[in-house]
Amino acid sequence: MEKFTEILMKWHKQHNTREMPWKGEKDPYKIWLSEVILQQTRVAQGWQYYTNFIKKYPTIGRLAGAKDQEVFKLWEGLGYYNRCKNLLFTARQIVKERKGIFPDQYEDILELKGVGPYTAAAIASFAYNLPYAVVDGNVFRVLSRFFGIEEAIDSAKGKNIFTELAAKVLAKKEAGLYNQAIMDFGATICKPFAPVCSSCPLQKHCIAYKEGKVNQLPIKEKTLLRKHRWFYYFLFEFDGKILVHLRTGKDIWQNLNEFYLLETDEQVKWDETIVTAWLKDQIGIRKATVKQLSPVMVQQLTHQQIKGQFIRVELKTIPPFLHKYKWELISKLRKLPFPKFITAFLEAGV
Ligand code: ADE
Repeated sequence: MEKFTEILMKWHKQHNTREMPWKGEKDPYKIWLSEVILQQTRVAQGWQYYTNFIKKYPTIGRLAGAKDQEVFKLWEGLGYYNRCKNLLFTARQIVKERKGIFPDQYEDILELKGVGPYTAAAIASFAYNLPYAVVDGNVFRVLSRFFGIEEAIDSAKGKNIFTELAAKVLAKKEAGLYNQAIMDFGATICKPFAPVCSSCPLQKHCIAYKEGKVNQLPIKEKTLLRKHRWFYYFLFEFDGKILVHLRTGKDIWQNLNEFYLLETDEQVKWDETIVTAWLKDQIGIRKATVKQLSPVMVQQLTHQQIKGQFIRVELKTIPPFLHKYKWELISKLRKLPFPKFITAFLEAGV
């Protein structure tokens, strides 16, 4: 537990090079503005809007005094216009009821229109260093992987577990720095797709890494119920053997074997360059030959459709990441039970 926080903070202080205009900002108005923009917008897109807003409305008073149409014009293109409406409402409310002074207690910040627990924790910690942990997609992902938590992040039980854990691992005396650290860490290292495990400072203590579950975590109920799923099977070959994995857990194909699986929400347009980059970043494999990239295969199950591809990769060595798997002789592969999606590929030899 302490290791997690300690290593994360050290990474943030010594190695985090991510730059953003609101970073280190102490003015609650500016933090609030940046967080509202980032609620439904990616950093790359939100960046310019933030700087435009700050330039035109450098204080909450200036925003409160602006004309609706002028503010909406500046918001144009960002979408989710309720955010802009709430922004104006709140700015005017703070000017009218609090003499333009932003609240400095978590509960009061949480009362503001358009501010939920996540945004309130971000403002309270960044502006006032109050000990509130942010819990967003980054935090779910980083914690579920590091601690190997398989509870669904979109279930009520899962949300409680992660919220409690987030509060436990928070660096309480440096809450602002810590919250920025975990967000940046999730965005640059422990990324959803192709996390950079090979240069991750937490790798040694990461349960998902140890158990080969980085790509399976975090788990979402929605994923298990989803109608369209993308399965990418990596056939790792070494010395006449191939990596196999027994499927357990609540999902489809229990007790059947499979290859190394990367499941994604969306189709990935693989080519040799992307495969090579993925292997390097994800598994630390530098020397490998991509021998085959199958066509997209489809299998219709009763309640869901599985689409995917098979990617054959010849390894020069077995990287530590893959040691714990079973390596089966290719000549004996046919004896193992596989789901039809896989036997169809094996039999077609495509
Ligand atoms: N997303 C939301 N708030 C953020 C922040 N302060 N830094 C990086 N990404 C964010």
